[in-house]
Amino acid sequence: MLPQGELDSDKELDCFKAELSEADFKAFSDFIYNQYGIKMPPIKRIMLQGRLLKRIRELNLKSYTEYKNYFFSKEGQEKEIYNFLNVVTTNKTDFFREPVHFDFLRDTVLPEFISKQSGSSFKVWSAGCSSGEEPYTISILLNEFKLNNPTFSFNILGSDISNRVLTNASKGVYAENKVALLPIDIKKRYFLKSKDRLNPTVRVRPELQKNLALKHVNLMNKSYDVNEKFNVIFCRNVLIYFDRETQESVINKLSQHLLPGGYFFIGHSESLSGMNVPLEHIRPTIFRKK
Ligand SMILES: C[S@@+](CC[C@H](N)C(=O)[O-])C[C@H]1O[C@@H](n2cnc3c(N)ncnc32)[C@H](O)[C@@H]1O
Repeated sequence: MLPQGELDSDKELDCFKAELSEADFKAFSDFIYNQYGIKMPPIKRIMLQGRLLKRIRELNLKSYTEYKNYFFSKEGQEKEIYNFLNVVTTNKTDFFREPVHFDFLRDTVLPEFISKQSGSSFKVWSAGCSSGEEPYTISILLNEFKLNNPTFSFNILGSDISNRVLTNASKGVYAENKVALLPIDIKKRYFLKSKDRLNPTVRVRPELQKNLALKHVNLMNKSYDVNEKFNVIFCRNVLIYFDRETQESVINKLSQHLLPGGYFFIGHSESLSGMNVPLEHIRPTIFRKK
């Protein structure tokens, strides 16, 4: 019996010899675009081939065509879809990634919110939150703000299409080097070190998870099963995978969940220029609902 994920040499040879044909690639790339809005141009064929090989090995299949036939079968569409998604999405993220947004939140958005004395809870949505570093960064910032503003309350929603990253986000355990550059007092206040020094990890403290909800949301859906309206929406480094038409439609749908005057952050390599969306430009990558 072979351990899971390994193949006997003949099958392995078959797999390595096999190529993802242009026709099979097109079947997958059309599906990925239609279901998730993610662009998969022909230049990505070898990348997809490499990523699918992992699944082919795990399922003990012999070729990409065999995988394609399984994937598009009724059983495959029920059972394989989430594994497939985990393979095709890119989940790179970090704590305090693109820090300009967090400075703006702390220095402009929060003082503005508190000055209104609305008494309502401050609501933030991290759409495409990956493994949780973005919503936990927001949570650190809001917990810090609460230290000086004890009546301040907040709720954070983190959503993603990939269940694998959402599971990781809910565990809140990260390699210790992921927090290496955070200030020492922040590390002490919000992270617990593992005892295992061979595999050093940190776990977020419960206060970071207290006001955080995680949810599976496909931004390609016609509408989102999210009831609240938010003061701020982060949708960073997600749009980059969509074509322009899809980006515009996703931003319009997300904007419906933004309160009037609410803020919208996109990634630094993304742009809304020329799009018909109800947001005004405040600073590069920072927008506000009209
Ligand atoms: C590169 S990560 C960005 C994470 C974080 N926002 C950041 O900037 O660090 C992009 C995330 O978008 C998610 N994603 C891709 N397509 C999506 C879709 N159609 N609906 C929801 N999330 C999607 C991916 O699963 C991935 O976790």
